[in-house]
Amino acid sequence: MIKAVRGTRDLLPPDTALWNFVEAAVRDVMRAYNFQEIRTPIFEETQLFARSVGEETDIVSKEMYTWEDRGRAQSDKGQSLTLRPENTAGVVRAYIEHKLWDLGLNKLYYIGPQFRRERPQKGRYRQFYQIGAEVIGPPTAGSESPARDAEVLEMLATLLDRLGIQNWTLELNSVGCPADRARFNEALRQALEPVAAQMCVDCQRRAVTNPLRVFDCKVPEDQPIIEKLPRISQFLDEGCRKHFEEVQAILTSVGVPFILNDRLVRGLDYYTRTAFEFTHGALGAQNAILGGGRYDGLSESLGGPQAPGIGFAIGEDRLVMSLQQTADAVIGKPNVYIAPLGPGMNREAARLARELRRHDLLVELGDESFRLKKSFETAEKAGALYALIVGENEVKADAFALKNLSTGEQVQVPRAELAERIRQD
Ligand code: HAM
Repeated sequence: MIKAVRGTRDLLPPDTALWNFVEAAVRDVMRAYNFQEIRTPIFEETQLFARSVGEETDIVSKEMYTWEDRGRAQSDKGQSLTLRPENTAGVVRAYIEHKLWDLGLNKLYYIGPQFRRERPQKGRYRQFYQIGAEVIGPPTAGSESPARDAEVLEMLATLLDRLGIQNWTLELNSVGCPADRARFNEALRQALEPVAAQMCVDCQRRAVTNPLRVFDCKVPEDQPIIEKLPRISQFLDEGCRKHFEEVQAILTSVGVPFILNDRLVRGLDYYTRTAFEFTHGALGAQNAILGGGRYDGLSESLGGPQAPGIGFAIGEDRLVMSLQQTADAVIGKPNVYIAPLGPGMNREAARLARELRRHDLLVELGDESFRLKKSFETAEKAGALYALIVGENEVKADAFALKNLSTGEQVQVPRAELAERIRQD
């Protein structure tokens, strides 16, 4: 038997109803904050991710699905392509390629699959889904302002609240600007020199190539060493400190709670200044429901104009997992099951179903070969509230037997009153 590939999965009903519920809520919230949707390709040139996410990150160095694409002729050198491991790079590429600043497009969101070759576990997949948004634009449009950071964070709090997700924690940090990070990296390099040999092989490499990435380490034995390392908060310059203070002040003013975590550096190299994650207790080890931050130099590093930006991506798989409690309320059950009774009744039942569906009712349709007992059983299994019997007598009278499947009560209802009667529950 051929099965879905390790780390990938089929999303089946009834879960798909939850996914649609989440996506509908997201689209509503995005509209209220004036974001518009962008859809970028699922694969891009490998260089795009190497240059934005960073060569030394786990994502680029270990987790990407990369292949040499064949050229047109046998002799053509293949192009290196990669399934997108995240969507910020693609959005910024599109921003530059289509000069989106000329079109005034500076608030974009996306929903779609991403691919990382991580070790699969609960809440971690090799094909997973992100809901993300980016605010990006020329500095003259105010894209650098701490007001944008706070607005994005407040939007996220609103979205999680609207979805009924409780007990989330917003963890906030500033990773400073490139100059701050250069000084921080130097301090880290010095602090790591005497201890790196006791750390895991990844950290030994990071200590030399990109010391900041040591904070991504999950190896338990390394944690006491990492705990004692200098923190980025000690290296922020005046501008970055003020920016960060203002983000916090606005959040406090709008009533969005947060905690500061100066170990939070995020696993992607493009971040500057504000970095954040929302975590959720019920999720277990993979408790980051979303992450994001500012990336002020990213456009320039990809050959574009100066275009400070901030954004986030929600792990939709994890978001849906934290919603399981509300599943019953979201998943639609048929309002009515139509039971045609006897030969020729499929035609009459189909007409009735069409009428009722036009009234926006959720209708399930049986078959004239079913006996009444089987129809009622099927209706109950489908979770229908009512069964509607369509037999010869009913058709003649143009009034139909409507049975409430939870109370057992049965009444005769004229055709014209059916929709309203069914909707009452
Ligand atoms: P990220 O932190 O790498 O950021 O991913 C964001 C979220 O995607 C994570 O918090 C998590 O919920 C989810 N996620 C990541 N990997 C997996 C996985 N293997 N399985 C399930 N869920 C996963 C980014 O991707 C940035 N592009 C976010 C961003 C947008 N920053 C600025 N703009």
